[in-house]
Amino acid sequence: MKRTIKDLVGLRGKTVLLRTDFNVPIDENGRIMDITRIASSLPTIKYLIKQKAKVVILSHLGRPKGYDVHKSLWPVAMFLKGELRCGVGFCHSLSFDEIKYRVSLVREGSVLLLENTRFFEGEESCDMTLSKKLASLGDIYVNDAFGTAHRRNASTFGVARILPNAIGLLMEKELKAISPIVDEPKRPFVAVIGGAKVSSKLKVLKSIIKKADSLIIGGAMAYTFLKAQGESIGESLVEEDMVDDCLEILEIAKSLGKKVLLPIDHIVADASTKKPSVKEVKTIKENMTGYDIGAETIKMFAKEISKAKQIFWNGPMGKYEEARFSEGTCEVGNAIANCKGFTVVGGGDTLAAVNQFELGDGIDFMSTGGGATMEFIEQGRLPCIEVIQEKII
Ligand code: 3PG
Repeated sequence: MKRTIKDLVGLRGKTVLLRTDFNVPIDENGRIMDITRIASSLPTIKYLIKQKAKVVILSHLGRPKGYDVHKSLWPVAMFLKGELRCGVGFCHSLSFDEIKYRVSLVREGSVLLLENTRFFEGEESCDMTLSKKLASLGDIYVNDAFGTAHRRNASTFGVARILPNAIGLLMEKELKAISPIVDEPKRPFVAVIGGAKVSSKLKVLKSIIKKADSLIIGGAMAYTFLKAQGESIGESLVEEDMVDDCLEILEIAKSLGKKVLLPIDHIVADASTKKPSVKEVKTIKENMTGYDIGAETIKMFAKEISKAKQIFWNGPMGKYEEARFSEGTCEVGNAIANCKGFTVVGGGDTLAAVNQFELGDGIDFMSTGGGATMEFIEQGRLPCIEVIQEKII
């Protein structure tokens, strides 16, 4: 078990370098469009403030190549100011002399947010010089950035190798919710995977089929699986170069006695007309494109979900952003939310669907990680968590 901030004693007056994942959508006017990730790290920040630590926060935002005013963390600092009852400063400067000076001014129980870590040269290559410079700013390093724990960066990995360290409360919660899926899932364990492409989820599919009792596949990626089974899929999205991988996954499932559930009916539209009419079909004819799962599939998926003691859901069942193709995702989401088993949801699209259909109350855990959650399930570990010290028992 990893050391958490609750295991750290004597934080008063210590400068804690806290890595968070404040990679949130911000519009051109500097408005934060989704505060989930920031709100999820507030308990850690508040705990450190209460312990009278001097809290220096690091985060990346987007994928800038060098300085980019639109990727500044300034709006996040403004948000934190409104949320925290303590001094919150923001350091625009990228000069370490200036940053050091600003850090020296931070009072006990106050916060200083530094500028986007990806503005610093060497962040993504985990440069040792940058790691050392960052480490020189604090006494202790705390990582609460679960969403970035798969990225071996200077601020997520390099610093942790230098300073005494621990994980934050969000990271602890994420590990507690997702580790059972990796190690010992409650059974039956049903994995619900959707989204457009097999290629983006190939590794997780190959890994989860070994852990889950049933694998439900929806979304456009189902058409590549159906094609692999020789079904007609019309004009539906298919990744020809993934057909063999789909066959391999189906073979693995068969050899392990695992169930794979694929759609048995579809909501299709005629791709050749300008205003395509939507209909429900058993098989997809030429000129037709599948955009959602049909009523029979919803029933079959919901039945399997209702039996689960553990669920992991990643990826929508159809093109849910359009109302006429949203029923599959909404109904499967409802079945997951109503299931008595422990439900974990991960990935940006899936969380957006959960919010759109107001399913949040029924979900036991919504992971702040996208790529990190998938990599954790695939590999059973993440580099930036591995590097953190074990708890002394
Ligand atoms: C994410 O949004 O998945 C994390 O913040 C990591 O961001 P990245 O994919 O740009 O490294």
